[in-house]
Amino acid sequence: MSDALDRYSERRNRFAATLAQDSGGRPSAALLLAGEENGLKHFEPDPNFFYLTGVEVSRAALLMTAGQAKPTDILLLPASDPAKERWTGRVLTAGGLTPAAQPDPERLESSRLTGHPNIAAYHELDEALLRPLRDAEFLYVDCPEDALPAPLGVSQLLAERLRRHYPYLQVRHAGRLVAQLRRVKDDHELALMRLAMDITAKAHAAIMGHLRPGQFEYEIQALVEYVFTASGAQSPAFPSIIGSGPYSCTLHYERNRRQMDSGDLVVCDIGCRKDYYCADVTRTYPVSGRFTPRQREVYEVVLGAHRAAVEAAKPGAYVREVHAAALDYIARAGYAPYFFHGTSHYLGIEAHDPGSYEKPLEPGVVITIEPGIYIAGEDLGVRIENDLLITETGSAIMTDIPMEVSDIERLLLAPRRSFLL
Ligand code: GLY
Ligand code: MN
Ligand code: MN
Repeated sequence: MSDALDRYSERRNRFAATLAQDSGGRPSAALLLAGEENGLKHFEPDPNFFYLTGVEVSRAALLMTAGQAKPTDILLLPASDPAKERWTGRVLTAGGLTPAAQPDPERLESSRLTGHPNIAAYHELDEALLRPLRDAEFLYVDCPEDALPAPLGVSQLLAERLRRHYPYLQVRHAGRLVAQLRRVKDDHELALMRLAMDITAKAHAAIMGHLRPGQFEYEIQALVEYVFTASGAQSPAFPSIIGSGPYSCTLHYERNRRQMDSGDLVVCDIGCRKDYYCADVTRTYPVSGRFTPRQREVYEVVLGAHRAAVEAAKPGAYVREVHAAALDYIARAGYAPYFFHGTSHYLGIEAHDPGSYEKPLEPGVVITIEPGIYIAGEDLGVRIENDLLITETGSAIMTDIPMEVSDIERLLLAPRRSFLL
């Protein structure tokens, strides 16, 4: 079996162990859905399903059990649909609608490509669930126990339906368990995140090479997203934030329609997704190429807070302590009222990756460090964000993008390059 296939089967083994632990060894089953296609929208599988399978097709599911006499690990794939494949091209399938007694060649091929020995058709889901659910006390599906979203998603509807058939089944949240695994990245994940960060660094270099007064924010967005696509990234990891002047103070601004002036600061919060893994890096640039003394004063406070937070981030520390280090630095400089968001979130398959913040940091965890000061009355917002890997001995910034005032001014004031437009 190839490394890639080993990787997913090893993740499923760890998930089965987590499942057994969470259900106290009682019989349980977990069902994770890939999700449904939605019209012309680009389809991406549910992150938890993808993490455990590496499979990218819609209408697929993973069914696993723990604490049962015969462990189950079944991948359900859509039946082959030649008419649909004229639109979508070949996708992984479970083979023909009514598999003959002979092994179905498409099913065998899907088994070989995914490393999954047991493949069933998605429309056979109820049948596949019969035996695992007959004895199960717990069913884990991907819906939070404490918040039922409206409208109900496919997982919730399915859980409701199964609960009617199996009234003693207790429904629990599978995503909470997968999040425990996803919180600590393996070498393969870190390698993909580094690629995403290198591409994002190229985009920041492009901004510094091309930013000038009179441009519209969307021109910078276009440049950034051109670099992403031309470098092999799959998409932006989140809507690119290019917020200038007053919008430097709007945390998740994404309209990007304003024309930039020479005295403005522009917050560029960008990141690409490469083979499903995200980068998330913010720099704040003076549009003219030079910070005003006031802008520089505030910028240096944010930079100091950033350093203080990085210093605090190490194995054993809590994310709230990392935040306290940044906030304390900003408060001592007199700007506490102007820093009103958290300093860190987990990063991985999602830009805001899941994971408990009640656990101390440990090697392999990746968090962002992103303090900011936003003074709306002065149209002055500054955020500096890097992605940080927790290591055995402390931490390492994974993004190599200048953040000192002198470096940023030098790069912004270097001879302008013309670019496309
Ligand atoms: N770019 C979104 C965030 O930093 O959380
Ligand atoms: Mn960001
Ligand atoms: Mn972030």
